[in-house]
Amino acid sequence: MGINLEAFFEHTKDTHLEQFHPQLRQALTVHYEQKIHGRSGEWDAALDAMPALDSTEYSFQDHSIRVAKPEALELDTEAYTAQLQAFMPWRKGPWNLLGVDIDTEWRSDWKWQRIAPHISPLEGRQVLDIGTGNGYFLYRMLGAGASLALGIDPTRIFLYQFHAAQRLLPTNGAHLLPLRSEHLPAFGSFDTVFCLGVLYHRRSPIDHIQELLSYLRPGGELVLETLVVPGGIDTILVPQDRYAKMSNVWFLPSTKALENMLRKIGLLDVRTVDVNQTTTQEQRATQWMTFHSLADFLDPNDPSLSAEGHPAPLRATIVATKA
Ligand SMILES: C[S@@+](CC[C@H](N)C(=O)[O-])C[C@H]1O[C@@H](n2cnc3c(N)ncnc32)[C@H](O)[C@@H]1O
Repeated sequence: MGINLEAFFEHTKDTHLEQFHPQLRQALTVHYEQKIHGRSGEWDAALDAMPALDSTEYSFQDHSIRVAKPEALELDTEAYTAQLQAFMPWRKGPWNLLGVDIDTEWRSDWKWQRIAPHISPLEGRQVLDIGTGNGYFLYRMLGAGASLALGIDPTRIFLYQFHAAQRLLPTNGAHLLPLRSEHLPAFGSFDTVFCLGVLYHRRSPIDHIQELLSYLRPGGELVLETLVVPGGIDTILVPQDRYAKMSNVWFLPSTKALENMLRKIGLLDVRTVDVNQTTTQEQRATQWMTFHSLADFLDPNDPSLSAEGHPAPLRATIVATKA
């Protein structure tokens, strides 16, 4: 059985999103169903072997996305842990599923704490999260009152992590579609669009921001988090080669340069609400992500520099309104 994406179509029928169903189904056929991942058989089997239930005790407001183990459920915790480990590396979290603590590479709750106080209240809002990863933030958005939290991310293993959580929960407003932002229609209707940690992976930043705007309704809010560099309005780093050992980093502006771009393409009330130096407490290798992590991406003699000699990872969140 594996992954079933029908819950999204069921939840959004008779809403303004229904008109986009044919286009989304077509994109899923081309970019998901017809692109079979080499490990999907193994992952489907791991998912199907996991307990499925309609939990009544869960929490999306604490640092971990937590689903409690019902007393009546007989669980072989060791076997369940191994099933969850089939979906390693777990990068975004933390999670606590049926008593198993998933200590992810990132303390994503710290990012949420930095962002949440500065955005329009999510109560009743329909939100879109581009590059959602495994959907950790989708639950935090539901926990903050969003009525629909749609995440988009093409990375297959993250879709399985999301479904490992979803199969423990009653029907809810979080959905993850395994697509890229380029595959989405111009919805023109979301109240808030989040794009956290994606802009620097895109070759054409202004086109990407225009794409994000096309999903928002007029008056809707854009929440953009990305890597930045220190400097003034004219500072933009395009790393010649790798940045912090990542080969897919294209464009690191200063906050002033990024604000300028947003204003120039017509966004209103543009403001940088947070700037934060990423620490090796926030991003680190754990038992659930055993590959290299931030400490390995920095200059061993000077942690203010990346391994290549660029400024070490600094992240900013910018909030703005669509005219
Ligand atoms: C650095 S992670 C950020 C995850 C999460 N938003 C966060 O802030 O922790 C970047 C994510 O963006 C996804 N991604 C990359 N290009 C994308 C695109 N064009 N459309 C949607 N997602 C994309 C990747 O699969 C990855 O999960």
